[in-house]
Amino acid sequence: MPSITRGRRTTEERRVRTDPVRGGMGGRCDKWPCIHHQRFREEIVIETASGTGTRLADRTAVITGGASGIGRASALRFASEGAEVVVWDLDPVGIDAVVTEIRRAGGRAHGVAVDISDASAVAAAAAETAGVAGEVTVLMNNAGVLDDYAPLLDTDEALWDRIIGVNLKGMFLVTRAVLPSMIAAGGGSIVNTASVAAFIAGGGGAAYTSSKHGVVGFTRQMSFDYAHQNVRVNAIAPGAVETGMSKDILYNEDLPVVEALRSAPAGRHAQPEELANVALFLVSDEASFVHGAVYVADGGWTIR
Ligand SMILES: NC(=O)c1ccc[n+]([C@@H]2O[C@H](COP(=O)([O-])OP(=O)(O)OC[C@H]3O[C@@H](n4cnc5c(N)ncnc54)[C@H](O)[C@@H]3O)[C@@H](O)[C@H]2O)c1
Repeated sequence: MPSITRGRRTTEERRVRTDPVRGGMGGRCDKWPCIHHQRFREEIVIETASGTGTRLADRTAVITGGASGIGRASALRFASEGAEVVVWDLDPVGIDAVVTEIRRAGGRAHGVAVDISDASAVAAAAAETAGVAGEVTVLMNNAGVLDDYAPLLDTDEALWDRIIGVNLKGMFLVTRAVLPSMIAAGGGSIVNTASVAAFIAGGGGAAYTSSKHGVVGFTRQMSFDYAHQNVRVNAIAPGAVETGMSKDILYNEDLPVVEALRSAPAGRHAQPEELANVALFLVSDEASFVHGAVYVADGGWTIR
């Protein structure tokens, strides 16, 4: 891929051919693609991994769910800004791939295989992380699972426990395990991955939507409780992002969410790198006065 130089940074550009949501621009379109959608079919350029930025120099960043999607893109992006990255994920193959990619680009990375919904596994992961990378100063609580838009009567106890267990309890377990190290280091920054489902119905099912509403509450309470110890806590709320989680639903005409996406002003889905850039801002010193905020990055899905 070609490289471009901006100031002191060398940033590899990734050209993404954006795929418009059928019938975007706020209404249905019988002739698709039509002239109104042409602008969405242009390429967009997104900054990706290889770079020599310094916005996270001297930071150690744990990223849960870092083997895929938004977490993977964030791992690459944070590493490109100088962070030593520790990828926590269930998927050892995916972890190895990300760690290898970061190291090949000249960055520093480690991987820890862990199920974040398991308290003892999380404690072991925190100990392993301390051993390989020292004190953690950046945490991205990002691992999450979807409930396939199941309404309440299709949600059995096992599904509820799995979704809440990863999306909310997992966040609690990981933060509780990592925070002492952050406080010992003199402070740090946490970004939690919420969702538009933190604000509206229809971005998930009963369990997913409940879990993401919880993530926003958790973010605000954490921010309230630990700001005085120099820990900033914020969240990102993505709309539809093309990742492993979403690939089977973004174009599934049988799901009501597709109808909602049709009317999103951006008229397209996001690439994970676009969310990684928002997360990077929030954990960097550029966001030094941002506490307890939830940054919505949804292509305008929720503005009306
Ligand atoms: N993709 C979207 O459209 C979208 C929209 C809004 C919010 N989100 C949120 O973004 C976050 C990342 O999702 P994504 O789209 O990148 O999905 P993804 O499936 O590509 O990545 C999720 C990662 O989390 C890992 N994971 C799942 N359960 C885990 C567990 N118990 N322990 C450790 N790791 C675990 C998976 O192995 C995977 O690598 C999630 O919290 C999701 O809810 C995604």
